[in-house]
Amino acid sequence: MADLSIKIGHTTFKNPIFVASGTFGYGTENPELVDVSNIGAIVTKSITLNPREGNPPPRIVETPSGMINSIGLANIGVDKYINEMLPVYEEIGSPIIMNIAGSSMEEYIKVLQQMEAVSSNIVGYEINISCPNVKEGGMEFGVDCNMTEKLTKELRKLTDRLLIMKLSPNVTDISAIATSSENGGADAVSAVNTVVGMSIDHKTGKNNIYTTYGGLSGPAIKPVGLACVHKVYNSVKIPIIGIGGIVNSSDVIEYILAGSIAVQVGTANYRDPGISEKILNDLNSYLDEQELDSIDSLIGSVKTYD
Ligand code: FUM
Repeated sequence: MADLSIKIGHTTFKNPIFVASGTFGYGTENPELVDVSNIGAIVTKSITLNPREGNPPPRIVETPSGMINSIGLANIGVDKYINEMLPVYEEIGSPIIMNIAGSSMEEYIKVLQQMEAVSSNIVGYEINISCPNVKEGGMEFGVDCNMTEKLTKELRKLTDRLLIMKLSPNVTDISAIATSSENGGADAVSAVNTVVGMSIDHKTGKNNIYTTYGGLSGPAIKPVGLACVHKVYNSVKIPIIGIGGIVNSSDVIEYILAGSIAVQVGTANYRDPGISEKILNDLNSYLDEQELDSIDSLIGSVKTYD
């Protein structure tokens, strides 16, 4: 059997199949449907300084080969995360990466400071600089190289844990944002968050999402995700965690060929919260069939025509 373990920064994960923020709750919601100890890592829901109700409904709609969400970062806030979730994570059996969102540089800093002030087994932080669904902050950071680098540098000063910047596909040049993350001291980037989209009901003439636009995810965006990962792979040396439309092990292999060291399964969790375990088993079988000992030789090895 292949060795599926991977290393990002100084952290080793037992396998490269993670679950994506916002698609797996706080990691504790489906104990009867998935054995989370088999998952490479759980990236938990975005946490902000204060609890948030999120956007008014409708905030989710199914679309061809995907869905659009505009949740608006609804979450319990950092105090409750510390008091109620951290004790649970001591027992959960899967590495936890905490996703952090903020509407200002100060907010990201305060959340990270609060987290670092308490003892926890969180292995790292994924910094959400790419949420398309809030008026303040969110994507504002992830579309600007200077802000990305400054934020990364400030957060880097505060933690030795893994620091992962989550990139937006809604930019002119994702490589430049990835380079700013690397220059700021990030250990890795995750690519990509959702693609800005819109859904209209032609019968009623109404928009299907309260905020007009939302974030498109699911198989519809896999080609976008692959292109972003490949561009980033050609621009930075830090590892890339691929995200976007992964539903099976073939998708995982494609993301690895494009340059990912690991992937996050997102929207597919809504259909089957146990899908990551199945993908992991299929990935193992594929590597055995190919007589590969690990995924190492596959990373970034897509054959292009030039
Ligand atoms: O609306 C949301 O909460 C989405 C967050 C994200 O895409 O990062």
